[in-house]
Amino acid sequence: MAHEHPHHTPPTSAAHTSAAPTSATHSAGGHGADGHGAGGHGAGGHGAGGHGDMLDLDAEVAAPQLADLTSRVAAMAGPVRHILDLGAGTGTGTFALLRQFPEATVTAVDTSDEMLHHLAKSASRHGLTDRIRPLLFNLDSGRPATDPADLIWASSSMHHMADPDQVLRNIHATLRPGGLFVMLEMEHLPRFLPDTLNPDPAIGPDPAIGPDPGPGVDPALGVVSEPGLEARLHAAAEKMRNEHLPHIGADWTTRLASAGFTVREHRTLNVELAAPLPAPALRYARATLHRFASQVADHLSENDRTALRQLLDAEGPHALERRTDLTVRSSRDVWISTT
Ligand SMILES: C[S@@+](CC[C@H](N)C(=O)[O-])C[C@H]1O[C@@H](n2cnc3c(N)ncnc32)[C@H](O)[C@@H]1O
Repeated sequence: MAHEHPHHTPPTSAAHTSAAPTSATHSAGGHGADGHGAGGHGAGGHGAGGHGDMLDLDAEVAAPQLADLTSRVAAMAGPVRHILDLGAGTGTGTFALLRQFPEATVTAVDTSDEMLHHLAKSASRHGLTDRIRPLLFNLDSGRPATDPADLIWASSSMHHMADPDQVLRNIHATLRPGGLFVMLEMEHLPRFLPDTLNPDPAIGPDPAIGPDPGPGVDPALGVVSEPGLEARLHAAAEKMRNEHLPHIGADWTTRLASAGFTVREHRTLNVELAAPLPAPALRYARATLHRFASQVADHLSENDRTALRQLLDAEGPHALERRTDLTVRSSRDVWISTT
């Protein structure tokens, strides 16, 4: 089920195409302790292996909602020939926009060469290399050397910036007058688990738990049954990301206005999938929970660590894939602004 709820209503030319990232001002440090699992933040690196694959799964699961959004953007935009995707990651926005705007090319800007290589490989697989220019650039270091853009897209990237207000002003200056700036920020980290992981008596005890598993564990069933596991994971992850990413959850409407934008629409993009989940959504759940498990394990109780281990043990009796009660719930805030 998909919902989109409206709330209310001197660069240099760089038009060539390239399969490999063009190096511009490269940030040495990336963005420190952060990672989105489909928006999931927490301490950790940005290896395009784990994180990149998770972003791709996020793109797959949210594809219908992104298609709705890009079609809404097309209805509001004038002619779109050049698009900038800022903090493009593995290209979720880039590919959705290329599908929507068949005449357009995208400059995909990111500070991570791993992400851009991942994006370039996907572009080549889909025969889109000629329409994408990957550009290695740290947006905190100034304006990327590109043609003015008809449309600028920044999804889950603005809160990474050291000085988002300056970056927003730079975006305003790079956008062709009358062009659109579409900004997305994850409102809630994605959730998959029911509040109570009802143990299935048919599965029986987990031999790894032993005869005296401690409080919160049902020894007959061998499964950790303390309700609220995911809420505790999120609380730990949010505490961590708030420390490392102070601009998360900022008042972007006010910041956009301060940078000179007029917000034409502010809406929520919800991704909601009911149980039982299809295979890509289950892979997305596994990738996200795996990331949580590695990032916040030290902040969890022994019981919660055990529960996560049970869920993530693909061969075990309590593996995520055996559950029929998983769902997907995530939401993004979307602002569509003009100069
Ligand atoms: C959470 S990912 C989002 C990726 C993609 N936009 C999406 O929606 O899936 C944030 C991206 O912003 C990039 N990023 C972070 N800080 C940046 C900066 N200062 N300049 C350019 N890119 C940056 C990261 O490398 C990462 O690929």
